[in-house]
Amino acid sequence: MKIWNSKQQQPAAILFLSLVFLVAATTLAADQPATKEIQRGFSAKHDDSYSQFQSLLSDPTGVFALGFLRIDSNLLDLAVLHMPSSFPLWRAIPANPAPWTGSISLSFDGNLVLSDQKKGTVFWSTASDGTGDRVVLLNSSNLQIQKTGTPDSVPWQSFDFPSNTIVENQNFTSYAKLLSTNQQFSMSLGANYFGLYIEFGKGSNSGIYLKHTALQAKAQIVPDGGPIYVRIGSDGFLGMYQKEGPPADVLSFDTFNRNYDVFYRMTLEDDANLRAYYWNNTAWILDYTAITEPCSLPTTCGSYSICRLQEQPQCMCLENSTNGCLPAGNGDFCAASGVKSIVNGDGYGVLTRQGVDLANKDFINYTKMASLEECHSTCEKNCTCWGAIYSNTTRNCYMMDYPIEMLVEGDDSKFGYFKLKSAVDEDGDGDDKKKSEEDKLRVALLVVGCVILAAVAGFGLYQIWERRRRGRRGGSMEEGLAPGPYKDLAASSFKSIELSDSFRKP
Ligand SMILES: *[C@@H]1O[C@H](CO)[C@@H](O)[C@H](O)[C@H]1NC(C)=O
Ligand SMILES: *[C@@H]1O[C@H](CO)[C@@H](O)[C@H](O)[C@H]1NC(C)=O
Ligand SMILES: *[C@@H]1O[C@H](CO)[C@@H](O)[C@H](O)[C@H]1NC(C)=O
Ligand SMILES: *[C@@H]1O[C@H](CO)[C@@H](O)[C@H](O)[C@H]1NC(C)=O
Ligand SMILES: *[C@@H]1O[C@H](CO)[C@@H](O)[C@H](O)[C@H]1NC(C)=O
Ligand SMILES: *[C@@H]1O[C@H](CO)[C@@H](O)[C@H](O)[C@H]1NC(C)=O
Ligand SMILES: *[C@@H]1O[C@H](CO)[C@@H](O)[C@H](O)[C@H]1NC(C)=O
Repeated sequence: MKIWNSKQQQPAAILFLSLVFLVAATTLAADQPATKEIQRGFSAKHDDSYSQFQSLLSDPTGVFALGFLRIDSNLLDLAVLHMPSSFPLWRAIPANPAPWTGSISLSFDGNLVLSDQKKGTVFWSTASDGTGDRVVLLNSSNLQIQKTGTPDSVPWQSFDFPSNTIVENQNFTSYAKLLSTNQQFSMSLGANYFGLYIEFGKGSNSGIYLKHTALQAKAQIVPDGGPIYVRIGSDGFLGMYQKEGPPADVLSFDTFNRNYDVFYRMTLEDDANLRAYYWNNTAWILDYTAITEPCSLPTTCGSYSICRLQEQPQCMCLENSTNGCLPAGNGDFCAASGVKSIVNGDGYGVLTRQGVDLANKDFINYTKMASLEECHSTCEKNCTCWGAIYSNTTRNCYMMDYPIEMLVEGDDSKFGYFKLKSAVDEDGDGDDKKKSEEDKLRVALLVVGCVILAAVAGFGLYQIWERRRRGRRGGSMEEGLAPGPYKDLAASSFKSIELSDSFRKP
C-alpha cells in the first residue's frame, strides 16, 4: 500500500502536514491575525470585501476556522470550515441563512449571537445559559463555549448541533439530527438503529428510506440502558454505542483497520445518500456509501414514480402531469377537525396499479390482511394513509403514512393504491373544468390585450393624424412623437398576458 499517511510514516507525514497547513493557513488567512480565543465582550462585523469566508477564530493547528461564510451569492452563514478544502463541517443556520449585505455581526457575551444590530434582528444564538467565559475552536473542529471552574465546563458545543456532517470522534446522539443542506433528508437515531428519512415539511410524517440496525455482536443494547449514540472512530468505521467500551455495531469504511492517520467525516448529502470521506491532504476520498442501489435512493425517481433497475435505473410515472410525474404532496388527508370524513373521490383522487412495490418495505410495518380490497379500503378509511401496497402471495399490506415516494417495479402479485391531493387531481381526472376555466382566462386576457393594442394603435393613429394636421399648419414637433411607443407598449402588453398565464400553472 503506497499511501503517504499510513502510521509507519508519521514523522514525515506530520512534517508534510504542517508544511501544507502552514501554506494553506498563510494563503487563506493572509491579511488577518488568527484569533485563538474569543473573550466576553467580543464583537466582529461582517466585512463583505471578503469574497467567500471571513475567518474569526481558528483552532490551534490552523486546520479549522470559524467565520462568516458566503452561501450562494447573496447569503451568509456562520460556519466552521475545514480550511484546506473549504468544506463547511458545521453551519449555524443552513435552513435560513442571513443576507450577505447589511450590518451583520457576531458577538459573544456568554452566548454567541449572530445579528443585525442596526435592524435589531437576531439570526441565530447559542441559547445556552449565558454563563460562558470564552469561545474556542478545538483541534477536532468542535466549537466550544467554555466556563472557568473546577473543572471547566462546556455550556454549549457545536458537536451537539450538527448540520449535515459529523466528524471523527463527534458523538451523534438521539437528541441530534443531521439534515442535508437542501433540508430534504435527515438522519436520526432510534432505539437500536439509525435511519435516513425523506422530510416532507410541516404536518407530514417523514418517510424512512434506510434503517441500519445494530448487529450487537460485541455489545448488547439493553432497553433501559439509555439512548444510543454513534461516532466515527479513527480506525475508519462508524460505531454504535449505548455506553463506552466495545461498540454494539461497527459499520466499516473501506479503510477500516488500515491504520490510516487521516481525518474522517460523514455527510448526509443533497442526493439523499450518506457518505464517509477522508482527507488525503489534497482531496476528500470517498470511503463509504450507505446506498449503492440506485432505486433505493429517493432522488433517483422521486414522487409518484416507479423505479425499474436494468443496467441503468429507469423511472416511470404512475401518471404523467404537465412536466414529469405528479409532484410530491404534503400534509395528510385528515380534516382540520381530525375527523376522517373523506370518502373516495371527495377531496382526493386515487390511482391503482399492479406490479408496483416499495423500495423501503423492509423498514416499514405491514399488517396481514385477507384480501386486496381489505388492504386498500383500510388505507382509504385512514386519513394518515397516503397509499398501500398489497401482496396477494404473502397477504402483507404495507401502508405509507407519508407522501408517495420510493416506488419500485414489482411482480404481478403486488397491487398498489395511491391517493392524490385534490390540487394535483385537478391536473389529472377532474381536468376538464379547470381547463375550460383556464381557456376562459386566456380568452379574457387576450381580449384585454387586444383592447389595449387597439387603444394604443388608435392613439398612435390619432397622433400621426394630429402631427400631419400640425405639419400642415407649419408646426415642427416631429421629435418625441415618433410611433415608437406603440411598439413598446404592445410588446409589454403581450408580456403581461404570458405572465398572468404562467402564474396559473402550478
Ligand atoms: C488535539 O488536542 C488534544 C488535546 O488538546 C491533543 O491530545 C491532540 O494531540 C491534538 N491533536 C492534534 C492532531 O493536534
Ligand atoms: C462522547 O461520549 C463519550 C461517552 O459519553 C464521552 O466520554 C466523550 O467525551 C464524548 N466525546 C465528545 C467529543 O463529546
Ligand atoms: C489524494 O487523492 C487525489 C484524488 O484521488 C489524488 O490525485 C492525490 O494524488 C492524492 N494525494 C495524496 C497525497 O495521496
Ligand atoms: C407518460 O408519458 C410517457 C412519455 O410521454 C409515456 O411513455 C408513458 O406511457 C406515460 N405514462 C402514463 C402512465 O401515462
Ligand atoms: C412498527 O410497529 C411496531 C410495533 O407496533 C412499532 O414499535 C414500530 O415503531 C413500528 N415501526 C414503524 C416504522 O412504524
Ligand atoms: C392509520 O394509519 C397509521 C399508519 O399509517 C396508523 O398508525 C394508525 O393507527 C391508523 N389508524 C387507524 C384508525 O387505523
Ligand atoms: C394474485 O393476483 C394475480 C393477478 O390478478 C392472480 O393471477 C393470482 O392468481 C393471484 N394469486 C393469489 C394467490 O390470489
